[in-house]
Amino acid sequence: MVTLVGDGIENPANVQALLEAAAMFGVPCAFRDRSVQLAPPVIAVDNAPGAESVYRTGKVHSGASVVVGNERRGIRPDLLRAAARTVHIPMPGRGVNTLNVATAAAVALYYLCGAAGRRAARGSRPESHRPAVLLAGPRDHVEAGSSLRSAAAFGWSTVAVADRERVWFDTARPVRAEGRAAARSHRNPLRVLRSEGVGSQHTRIVICSSDSGAGPPIHRVDLTGAGTLIVVPDGDWAPPPGLPVEYVQVPGPSRYRLVSGVVLAEVARQLGPRPDGSAGRPPRRGPAYRSELRLVTEAEGELLEPWELLHY
Ligand SMILES: C[S@@+](CC[C@H](N)C(=O)[O-])C[C@H]1O[C@@H](n2cnc3c(N)ncnc32)[C@H](O)[C@@H]1O
Repeated sequence: MVTLVGDGIENPANVQALLEAAAMFGVPCAFRDRSVQLAPPVIAVDNAPGAESVYRTGKVHSGASVVVGNERRGIRPDLLRAAARTVHIPMPGRGVNTLNVATAAAVALYYLCGAAGRRAARGSRPESHRPAVLLAGPRDHVEAGSSLRSAAAFGWSTVAVADRERVWFDTARPVRAEGRAAARSHRNPLRVLRSEGVGSQHTRIVICSSDSGAGPPIHRVDLTGAGTLIVVPDGDWAPPPGLPVEYVQVPGPSRYRLVSGVVLAEVARQLGPRPDGSAGRPPRRGPAYRSELRLVTEAEGELLEPWELLHY
């Protein structure tokens, strides 16, 4: 059994989410302060230069410490140097190139602790096989936002949300702001569509369920195809009658961002890397400024989140 270790985690909500990520895979969780010694071998989970893809890493030794890092600074350099291996989760998206730390932990544990008998990744034109994704009935706005952050980082440009719990659209302004902050909306170019279900363009519906009787493990089922709709329900989700539905099994039940993170990672793994082998980041030109805004005092102004500009 491995131990999940959070290195210098700052946010108490992430501490709780990391405990839940460890519980999802039945492994212990520890938090490292400067003085704590870790059981070798240390496997660092970080998108540091030279890291190997977590999808190509085999099962790690029992007793290993699987380390994730601080929300802003990542894993401390001394620990990165001491690591026997460093693995990253490939991020083909065009915006934020990291996941929430607990989501990253869940994805890493999924591949490092097993996921045996994985389907091979597609060889060519991954984008033409990318399935649609429906986040069905998320019950919490931050979990929904964090899941959308993952979707953007894994390369989706559009995601549908069936918002029956009213956590994303039509919510109070502070709730909207918190959800969008979790999604990193100001840096993630993602279109979020309001959807109640399935459209005629979907020829195949795959429901990702934590129910142990649901079906085969998700990594053994083909999740790709432009006509495919991947549904990630938060709790129960009843498909419209008469449609061909398949169930696949995902770890859990657990926090929504962790389950959705594993699902989206597995679809991205099966799609395979972009043909140029890059992480998917096109070179960017820096912004050009023609003039500057005059600052006003806080009393005169209004606090406006960047994502709100999208409504203007
Ligand atoms: C939000 S990230 C830290 C980002 C930090 N600004 C950096 O670039 O190192 C917090 C932690 O989550 C984990 N993480 C997030 N995305 C990851 C990815 N794509 N691959 C590997 N680890 C990731 C790592 O352990 C990282 O230290």
